[in-house]
Order: sequence, then C-alpha cells, then structure tokens
Amino acid sequence: MKTLVLPPSADTLEYAKELIKAGEVVAFHTETVYGLGADARNDAAVRKIFALKGRPADNPLISHVHSGYDISVLVETPPYTEALRRAFLPGPLTMVYPSKGKVSPAVSCGLPTLSVRVPSSPTAQAFLRAVDVPIAAPSANRSKHVSPVTAQHVLDDFEGDIPLIIDGGASQGGIESTVLDCTGEVPQILRAGLVTREMIASVVGACGIYHMRAGEKPKSPGMAYKHYAPGCRTAFFSADNTEEAVRCYGREKGANGRPYFLAEHAVCERLSGYDCFDLGASPEEMAANLYALLREGERKATLLIGIEPRCRGGVMDGVRNRLLRAFGQSEN
Ligand code: TXA
Ligand code: MG
Repeated sequence: MKTLVLPPSADTLEYAKELIKAGEVVAFHTETVYGLGADARNDAAVRKIFALKGRPADNPLISHVHSGYDISVLVETPPYTEALRRAFLPGPLTMVYPSKGKVSPAVSCGLPTLSVRVPSSPTAQAFLRAVDVPIAAPSANRSKHVSPVTAQHVLDDFEGDIPLIIDGGASQGGIESTVLDCTGEVPQILRAGLVTREMIASVVGACGIYHMRAGEKPKSPGMAYKHYAPGCRTAFFSADNTEEAVRCYGREKGANGRPYFLAEHAVCERLSGYDCFDLGASPEEMAANLYALLREGERKATLLIGIEPRCRGGVMDGVRNRLLRAFGQSEN
C-alpha cells in the first residue's frame, strides 16, 4: 500500500475519517510524539495497531479525544481530576481512570482502567474532531524503537504498511505525555513527562511517583519493556567520566568506526573537535531534541556514546528516563 503524507487540510481530514470508519490505522501529529491511531471501539482495528508495531499484547493503549469530547461517557472521573483537566488539558498529560467499558477490551488489555489523553496539537485536535470517536494510539514507532517526532520518522518505520500520516510538522514537546494514575485517592505518576510531579501537586496538593517493586506486576506495563533503542551500538558514561568516554571514542575511530557523542550543550562545547550531537542546555530543549538525535545517531554513527546530563528533577525526570532506557541503563 502507498503511504500518503499529507497536511491536515479539509480533504485530508475527510479521508482520515473514512479510513478510521473502515477500521484502518492512521498516523497523526501530536505535541509530544506522533501517534498510530485507530477507532478505540473497533476490536479488529485496535488489534491491527498491536500487529503493526509488534507490541506486546499486555501493554495498554491511550485513548485520544478532542477537547469538546465528554469523557464521562468513557470513564469514571474522581472529583480531584476535574482540577487537573482544567489546569493541564489539552496538553501532554494522560490520565488513567476507572473504565466504563465502552471501548474495545483490547485497548486496555483487560485492565479495569482506561487512559485518556486530550492532545493540544491543532493537527491532532482537527483529526479527533473530524472523526469524533476515541482514537486508541500508541507512539507511531515499531515496538522498542525510538519514538517518532516527525512524519519522516513514522514513514521510516511504517512506509507501505499504513495508508496515511497526517503531517503537523515536528512534535515540539519531544517526549511522550506524563501518564498519571487517577484511580486512587492521590494521583500517582506512572510515566514522567512534561507535566511534572511539582506541577500536579501544585494543583491537587499531592502527587506520588510509582516505582515498581521487584517481582511485582507493573501498573504501567509499558515501563517494563525495553524501549527507545537506536539501531546502532551504544555506550554510556556518567558526566564525571568523560575521559573514559573520550578513550571509547578513540578506540571506535581507531577501528575505522564512526563514533558520535550525545551530550548536553556544556559537554559538547568541551568536546569540540569530536563529532557530537548536542542535546541542548535546558531540560525542555533536551526533551525536544532527544528522539530526533537518537534517530540521526542510528543513521550516522556506528557507535553512539551517551554522556549523562547533570541536571535532575522536573522535566529532566522524563528526559533521563528515556535517555537511560535508550542506552540500556536502568534508572537509580
Ligand atoms: O504522548 C503520548 O502519550 C503518545 C502520543 C501518541 O499520545 N502516546 C504514547 O503511547 O506514548 P504509548 O503506547 O507509546 O505509551 C503508553 C503508555 C505505556 O507505558 C502504557 O503501559 C501506559 O501508557 N498505559 C496506557 N494505558 C494504561 C492503563 N490503563 N493503565 C496503566 N498504564 C497505561
Ligand atoms: Mg511508545
């Protein structure tokens, strides 16, 4: 099949609506990463997403809706969630609620909960308004690969396999939404992102962070899987160990390889003279640049050498989580 990449014109949206109605899968821009969407109420369409991605069958999907959609049709909404929706939606926050069972059971992989996201991207909003049904969508990458932040990245993973990519330009946020469990008395972050624990706590007074205990079934199954891996060899060093990183670079160069560093701006400045991908200086810049650089890295480098950024907390929690996992490191 030919994969069309089209801007969100009226014609494109009409075509997208037809495709979704027919149980097809459509990729679309959001402000975090591109999504691979299908009608959340259609079992076969949802299963198609899992098959296309090679996604494990126990990793639930987020349902996306436009900002005028009445989510109380889909989920129970505990009282404190109202303030969170008012403060952060539309935007990069996914909230997990008790489900009313109105979408295909394949979306939540049998869990009694449903995660709902209202993206702020005008392209996503236009698409979701046009179809006016909940759209189940994971990030539009092959399972385990780096998430896509441009239409080209989606094409690189799915050309010929999906009919349409709605191109809204680069995703500015750069890392996936914060996933927040809202089924308990206090909300709990399952996946860190651009809406931080501090921001959530400032609205509802308290916010926990979920840490999986050894041997426990994870609350957010996606966090247990290997993820975000670039398709080249990688190495990883702490910021205090750049001498060793430089020796590693030298060995790869000596073996006729093409080593590249991936590091924060201040470190790249010190490494002038070496090939280096500059993540940027602020956590927001690093979030916006990370996935595009991992994808550029896998195209250009034989060995991508990550150097751990020094800053911690806030948005950096989400960036560190993705970066460490891309380099096969576990957090803590
Ligand atoms: O920014 C985003 O969230 C992007 C865009 C496309 O919206 N989507 C995205 O989807 O990152 P995905 O499937 O790559 O990641 C969804 C994460 C997974 O870690 C999954 O386990 C978790 O959310 N999740 C989804 N539904 C859940 C539920 N009912 N309970 C717990 N975790 C859930
Ligand atoms: Mg993903």
